[in-house]
Amino acid sequence: MSKVAFYKKDASILEQYNWEKRLKLFLPEIELVPLLSAEAKNATTALLWKAPMEKLLLIDKLKGIISLGQGVDHILNKNSINKKIHIVRIVDPYMAKSMSHWVILSVLNYIRDTYGYHNQEKIKLYKPRKEINFLNVKIGIYGIGEIGSVVAKDLNSLGFKVTGWSRKKKYIKGVDCLKGLNGFDNLIKTNDIHVCLLPLTSSTVNIFQDDVFKKMKKGSCFINAGRGEHVVEQDLINNCKSGQISQAILDVYRTEPLTQDHPFWTQDNITLWPHVAAETNPDTAAEQIANAVKCINEDILPPNVVDISLGY
Ligand code: NDP
Ligand code: OXD
Repeated sequence: MSKVAFYKKDASILEQYNWEKRLKLFLPEIELVPLLSAEAKNATTALLWKAPMEKLLLIDKLKGIISLGQGVDHILNKNSINKKIHIVRIVDPYMAKSMSHWVILSVLNYIRDTYGYHNQEKIKLYKPRKEINFLNVKIGIYGIGEIGSVVAKDLNSLGFKVTGWSRKKKYIKGVDCLKGLNGFDNLIKTNDIHVCLLPLTSSTVNIFQDDVFKKMKKGSCFINAGRGEHVVEQDLINNCKSGQISQAILDVYRTEPLTQDHPFWTQDNITLWPHVAAETNPDTAAEQIANAVKCINEDILPPNVVDISLGY
């Protein structure tokens, strides 16, 4: 038996998605045991999302931790992990496409003024609103990795001028690629729509704060599906209030779920989604998770191991 300690906050998720059954299709000997149960002690791998990481310290034979999503900040930022333990993440083209759909939806809602038309509908006002010429819309994508590169290409294929930003220089057909601090400054100043798809690391935390919002073109649109901690939330609210940011569309927050008294709820030009831009799909992710468990058990380096020193 390959015992895997499983954790996702909503316990019903185990039954809901029937992870064990799906994983068994690719690795019949796999057995999922709840991380919080006594059986977890004998696991060699943990498969988890936002788990109480201190529980992993009780698993003596632990050789690998697999994130139930593409991001790994919930693992790396919470605990000092023994460097010998591999941290593996899902890299799923389905998720990249799903994110691309969400970003395209957000961009189109912004440029076609869906929110303005919804408000007019409420008062039965039948009147064309000012149209944005999409040929003049420049979109900056912060983070052009597995997800951001797909989003950048898809937006470009819709006729937008797209520029991406990464740590190392990248080449993506149809997309201008910039890197480093100068690249960041350039992206901030020249784009109309800013899309954050970065991983959360010590270099990217709080990257969108007041001085950055103020350097953007007046009336910019800001879209965040990276992590809530990329944004200083009060600074975003202030810039939305002043009109410096005309529309923000958010999927991720510093505290999730977003608290009932959070000021985002009542800020008209901020649109909120409950961290659903690109959800893990068990149908498409099960095979790679099963393979990672197998590799970890056989002491083979699995694909998509995270570079702990970089934090992503
Ligand atoms: P990748 O690791 O594949 O890509 C990360 C990108 O960010 C790379 O282009 C990388 O540069 C760039 N980057 C990282 N650090 C820096 C830095 N300091 N300066 C400039 N660029 C940097 O990640 P994914 O594309 O798979 O995922 C990105 C993030 O999206 C996840 O970490 C997660 O936070 C978020 N996410 C959100 C979801 C949602 O539903 N809201 C769903 C899935 C993911 P380089 O190419 O040079 O390495
Ligand atoms: C992920 C996420 O990182 O859902 O996969 O945010």
